[in-house]
Amino acid sequence: MDLDKAIGLVAEVPDFPRPGILFRDFAPLFASADGFAAVTAALADTLDHDVELLAAVEARGFLLAAALGQASGLGVVMVRKPGKLPQVAARADYELEYGTAALELPAGVVQPGQHVAVIDDVLATGGTVAAACGLLEQADAVVTGVSVVLELDGLGGREALSGRQVHALHSS
Ligand code: PRP
Repeated sequence: MDLDKAIGLVAEVPDFPRPGILFRDFAPLFASADGFAAVTAALADTLDHDVELLAAVEARGFLLAAALGQASGLGVVMVRKPGKLPQVAARADYELEYGTAALELPAGVVQPGQHVAVIDDVLATGGTVAAACGLLEQADAVVTGVSVVLELDGLGGREALSGRQVHALHSS
């Protein structure tokens, strides 16, 4: 499937999870084998050649990174919401477009000096991905770049990640 058509499968749902927020629902894209494959292939093209590991941001980033990892011969570290990991290397609290949130990095998974690419579905304010990058760097990993499917314009995501390589398959 053509990439634009695949990204067109992402549904826009007004007023979720709060009034005034236009939620991007990836469920129809993930449910389309051809659409999911097209997005996975396009994400693979964004990866630097020296990437050794993918960091997946919970929850939709998990699906994308798992598919991408299998397609690219890379493993995945799950950057999780609080309370899920038995052993935590570090925690980061951050602001979201609609509230506050936190992420945790598992202990003993990322190796110092390892080159890691961060994968997520949507870049909005950039708080989530910036927090994930910060956690990886606390573990002495080298963040090679950030790859997302959708970048939402006007919310400051690029600015929040200034100095980092940011790849978005589509912006709107
Ligand atoms: C959404 C999305 C990104 C983040 C983008 O996650 O999946 O991770 O928000 O927003 P930001 O750039 O403003 O930080 P959400 O917390 O809704 O999690 P989910 O994937 O578990 O649904």
